Amino acid sequence: MMKQITVIGAGVMGHGIAQVYATAGHNVVLYDTQKHALENALKAIRKSLESFFEIGMIAYNDIDEIVNRIRTTTDLEDAVRESDFITEVVPEILELKQALYEQIESICKPETIIASNTSTFPLSTLTANAQKKNRMIITHFFNPGQIVPLVEVVKQDITAKHVIDETVQLLKEAGKTPVILQKEIPGFIANRLQAAVVREAFSLVERGVASIEDIDLAITHGPGFRWAFVGPIETTDFGGLDTWQRVLDQLCPNLDDRKSAPDVINNMVANGQLGVKSGKGLYEYNPDTVLERIEERDRNFLKLLQLKSVE
Ligand SMILES: NC(=O)c1ccc[n+]([C@@H]2O[C@H](COP(=O)([O-])OP(=O)(O)OC[C@H]3O[C@@H](n4cnc5c(N)ncnc54)[C@H](O)[C@@H]3O)[C@@H](O)[C@H]2O)c1
Repeated sequence: MMKQITVIGAGVMGHGIAQVYATAGHNVVLYDTQKHALENALKAIRKSLESFFEIGMIAYNDIDEIVNRIRTTTDLEDAVRESDFITEVVPEILELKQALYEQIESICKPETIIASNTSTFPLSTLTANAQKKNRMIITHFFNPGQIVPLVEVVKQDITAKHVIDETVQLLKEAGKTPVILQKEIPGFIANRLQAAVVREAFSLVERGVASIEDIDLAITHGPGFRWAFVGPIETTDFGGLDTWQRVLDQLCPNLDDRKSAPDVINNMVANGQLGVKSGKGLYEYNPDTVLERIEERDRNFLKLLQLKSVE
């Protein structure tokens, strides 16, 4: 058992990851350069734990116990000196991440595992200047990290076997579902699959095929409904490979294959319409109700998590 886990960066993803490891019984040090980020993170963790309690996934007393296992600090040396497993969750800026590894490696124990939550950088690029590349690994969580089970684990040929094994064991014991990539590829697995669907969804919007509500419903009440339990590959086995051969031969020439973001998104971004954070994306968001919508989303995700945890 890892005695101490350090999470570096307490933003959108970092607080959820700290919650996961503390819930699994580990002592967690949460480090950020910004004091207010740490304060907000602790509030968000408590609020999230309350929703786990409300659906009966943890006991009321667990909330304080879990929060008390998380210590916050703005002192990097204090955060990493004694750590057994460090996960870096700072913004997706290569130079920032590489400079951080240099600092961490000069302080932490030689055997400490260093993981990154990067969404896009190959492990070989992240670790280009590292002293001990064989102890570094990617553990890519999905937002909200405290709820979505998937964690993509990316290694390199030089990654030590015990680093992979201990990381996978840590994630499984924390109730996560790790999948291991056998080779480096941009976007890993899940974001590639998701991007293919999103590109086609916006193509349908541009062609005026249906309303945005109906396009979303076509996933949430169709393939998305099935995908929580039957993946796209098993789906083809259930449907019949001969049928899917004809479907793909017929549809592939018709599918969107553009090489960059669709103009609908480009135009909205140019106009400052960024979605929930600016109050308007494809949908309109009322500042008074948007928090309720996020809470409703997370309650639904928790119900699904409950269903999947008895699979
Ligand atoms: N947001 C998502 O949905 C999502 C999903 C999966 C992966 N990721 C990845 O997770 C990482 C973090 O993303 P995020 O959305 O949580 O970012 P964020 O901007 O919400 O949070 C980053 C935090 O890091 C802190 N920080 C910045 N520089 C630091 C430093 N040198 N030392 C310590 N803390 C520092 C910031 O103060 C901030 O609190 C990125 O690599 C991102 O690609 C994000």
